[in-house]
Amino acid sequence: MRYSKNVSAFRPSPIRSMMKAVVNPNVISFAGGMPGEELFPVDDIREMVANMPRKAMDTALQYGPTDGLPILVDLLTQEMSKKGFDMEKNRIIVTTGSTQVMNIVSKLLIDQNDIVLTEDPVFCGSAGAFCSYHAQLVGVKMDSEGIIISELEKALEKNPKFIYTTPTFHNPAGLTYSRKRRMEFLEVMAKHPDVMILEDDAYGRLYYDNDTQEDIVPMKTYAKNEQQIIYCSSFSKIFGPGLRIGWMVLPKEMFEVAEIAKQSMDACTPQFSQMLAYEFWKSGRLDRYVEMLRNTYKARRDKMVECIKKYCPEDTTFVTPKGGFFLWARIPDSIDIDKLFDNCSERGVVFVKGIAFSADYKNNQHIRLSFSNTNPETIEKGIKLMGEEMYKLMK
Ligand SMILES: Cc1ncc(COP(=O)(O)O)c(C=O)c1O
Repeated sequence: MRYSKNVSAFRPSPIRSMMKAVVNPNVISFAGGMPGEELFPVDDIREMVANMPRKAMDTALQYGPTDGLPILVDLLTQEMSKKGFDMEKNRIIVTTGSTQVMNIVSKLLIDQNDIVLTEDPVFCGSAGAFCSYHAQLVGVKMDSEGIIISELEKALEKNPKFIYTTPTFHNPAGLTYSRKRRMEFLEVMAKHPDVMILEDDAYGRLYYDNDTQEDIVPMKTYAKNEQQIIYCSSFSKIFGPGLRIGWMVLPKEMFEVAEIAKQSMDACTPQFSQMLAYEFWKSGRLDRYVEMLRNTYKARRDKMVECIKKYCPEDTTFVTPKGGFFLWARIPDSIDIDKLFDNCSERGVVFVKGIAFSADYKNNQHIRLSFSNTNPETIEKGIKLMGEEMYKLMK
């Protein structure tokens, strides 16, 4: 086959390929970053569909405006404005998952071999999107408070096109930048006004500890040069990823080109999904649902933390995630991570090896454990088994 050069730049998602293998329903999976499916608001969706007037149904099944269903765009504009975004200077585009934001931004900003900075580790889905537009990724290390500023300054010398950051409930690192680190980040970035910032806030509403409130405010709402930032979020973790709806808040100046870029990808985001998202949010169901999710996921997070402390070797280290779906654990150096993965999967427990999230595909001693889609009893069973395998492999 005479494939284009694009194909050689593809970076397949190790999680997607692993998920194909995890078809056995008895497997305890800490691998995928998926919401708890038994929690999906199925009754609400049934009711909303049943009560949808014929006229609305016609709209739902029709093509729609590329930038989004007008009532949803208006609602998001109001909600973002309430959160502190300057909606005089910015506009909303509703996207087909926030994955599409990564693709739109890449299409607009990346030329072959352009440098894109990311945190290291980085969410492999976004990394894959940037690479498919022939970007070269440069990863910047983090500590427990966020990106390391001296490393960022060094990386900026490479003249990157943009930096991709997930400062809140990072996937996979489970970290949240402190307010202080956010200010330092913005201060450094302000010295490089031509380097755009892509701020990904996929998990912002899923916080489990109230002391994070000040930290998790999106940077775009208070950055002096907020026009340097493109912000995105998603309905995937607070409604259902199968509906494929995300959104971006971007400088007005970029709106038209971004809309054209999206046009050639999918013409519009499914109207049906947008109609449901609008009704879900507008009617107050979303807020109630998110509250239930926070309580449920907090219990799962707590259980996983408790079990790792109880069943895994003492020098297994991690920062307790204050929100989101992921716990990023560093396992003892003496454990061969590939063997651990093989032995655990043979016994029916899977996770993702850290290499999947390395900006430059380097091996490391981390594993990503997702607690969102597993109930507390099963979390205990899975972590206990993983702990047994860890002890067996320790030399
Ligand atoms: C940090 C982050 N950003 C973006 C996405 C993409 O989500 P979606 O395209 O479903 O909105 C994910 C999904 O797991 C994610 O973890």
